[in-house]
Amino acid sequence: MIPKSFVQYLLNRLDIVDVVERYVPLKKAGANFVACCPFHNEKSPSFTVSQSKQFYHCFGCGAHGTAIGFVMEHAGMGFVEAVEYLAKSVGVTVPQEASNTSQHKVAPDLYELMQSATRYYREQLKKNQRAIDYLKGRGLSGEVAARFGIGYSPDDWQNLKAAVPNYQDAGLVETGLVIEGEGGKRYDRFRDRIMFPIVNVRGQVIGFGGRILDKGEPKYLNSPETPLFEKGHELYGLYQAQKAIRARQQVIVVEGYMDVVALAQHGVEYAVATLGTATTPYHVQKLLRLSEQVVFCFDGDKAGQKAAWRALENALPQLVDGKRIGFLFLPEEHDPDTYIREFGTEAFEQLLDDSLPLSGYLLRELTAQVDLRTPEGRNILLQKAQPLLTAITAPTTALLLRKEVAALAGVTQAELEALYSIKPVAAPPRAAPPKAKRSTPSGLRTLLRCLVMRPVLARELPGDWQGEGNEGAAIAALADWLRESADETTSAAMIQHFQGTSYEVVFASAQGEVIQWGDDFDVQAEFVGVLRRMRLDVIESESAELLAKGLLSMSESERSRLAQLKDERRQLKEQVG
Ligand code: CTP
Ligand code: MN
Repeated sequence: MIPKSFVQYLLNRLDIVDVVERYVPLKKAGANFVACCPFHNEKSPSFTVSQSKQFYHCFGCGAHGTAIGFVMEHAGMGFVEAVEYLAKSVGVTVPQEASNTSQHKVAPDLYELMQSATRYYREQLKKNQRAIDYLKGRGLSGEVAARFGIGYSPDDWQNLKAAVPNYQDAGLVETGLVIEGEGGKRYDRFRDRIMFPIVNVRGQVIGFGGRILDKGEPKYLNSPETPLFEKGHELYGLYQAQKAIRARQQVIVVEGYMDVVALAQHGVEYAVATLGTATTPYHVQKLLRLSEQVVFCFDGDKAGQKAAWRALENALPQLVDGKRIGFLFLPEEHDPDTYIREFGTEAFEQLLDDSLPLSGYLLRELTAQVDLRTPEGRNILLQKAQPLLTAITAPTTALLLRKEVAALAGVTQAELEALYSIKPVAAPPRAAPPKAKRSTPSGLRTLLRCLVMRPVLARELPGDWQGEGNEGAAIAALADWLRESADETTSAAMIQHFQGTSYEVVFASAQGEVIQWGDDFDVQAEFVGVLRRMRLDVIESESAELLAKGLLSMSESERSRLAQLKDERRQLKEQVG
């Protein structure tokens, strides 16, 4: 767990302009910086970065966030990863909260050991003709081998003695490079293998895949899970592919190291591979953050079919409306490597264009072995579809697929939802709460703008403050948070805090509105003014309600309440001056 206060501290230490510029060149435009948005395709820049407010906002696609959010979106890093990366870039260490510490502590020297080993294996490749011939035989150029840092581990038991200062270093066992046998005897894990370094999105080597040159078992030997390397989180080739994925807004997921490398050799640079594991929801989430379209392309054999279905199951909870997931099924005897070598880039990209959309694949498999002409068949369809349909959270996708399955089964969408005990997707809008006439929407809008300009002002709201609708709820949530937080809180800290909550969108839209406002704007005065106007509105309506009863039929307490309101009203009016 990263302490919240550290996140604020880090955001204060960073400059979002520096951070964004590591990935996207920015141009100064008035008080802000702009660029063509890296998150969608556009010709004129609507991506805006505010240095004074420390957040970015795209007027085209609504992308919005802090320096941390930017790195997460742009490099596909997780929150912890992004915080660690940014902290390192400004030379501060991430403190760990008492719970589950040790887990994320990674000594920098483990990375160095991996780096030394990578360098060593690459040098060895140059010296070994048999390994060079093997790679040439598989159609790889020296250039592509270098791009992926491919190397060779010689056929000896303790090669790495030549690569690191101390072969007894505990880190060598921790990184999985060396195995300690009984009696403490050490030897290299990788011997006489082609070495594929596995690189994280920051460009650090975290593991290896080693392929045997001739026939033998196992064909591939991989680094074990280590403090650096978690298989279900990493994708082979993502570091090298990132740029191409972004430019094309498409990524292909394949099964093997050689598939990624062979595709790159043929100019298909936007492919990544899972690392001998199934595609995890985490993988899908990471890829959908990077691009509009993810295409799974597994081998044409039975195992490939199974992998594709697993990928579909794990993709369902991660689906995002408007983004496309496709499935490409190669002819049975092929994998992407053999296919592109035999038929070429154009033929492969044609297959990509014709890939089967997720919904088509899902419905095809669901209806494959059932006879929809019989009630029994339709019953089976409904049973098989249940876990799949209920896993989808993207509203439009969920709606459309429920309709399709319902139609195939001859039931209505409502019947299907009742059967599965799931909430209808298209829920009717919730009725406004009864105490609705608290403050005018335009007042709320203004108040919200002031608060996103300077969040600490929310501390000055009365303790029982409430407002209607999404905006009112968001303001109340902000005030609650600030009452608990002792720090001087910035717009960036606020964005970070509310990320992923139901208030995120409301705040983002207000922040988008104020990003153009200069800093000479008197927020304090505007804030006081709007609060006064809103309070006056409340007084007016409460007084009107009382007066409607008629003075004579009022109770004692109602009459004194009316007088009180009148007083308050007079005082407020006087303040305007
Ligand atoms: N794999 C593994 N261990 C094995 C076999 C496979 O970890 N013993 C993983 C590797 O990541 C490999 C992927 O599964 O890249 C796909 O395996 P496979 O299809 O058998 O190999 P190919 O990628 O076709 O490898 P090659 O073309 O080199 O034969
Ligand atoms: Mn292959």
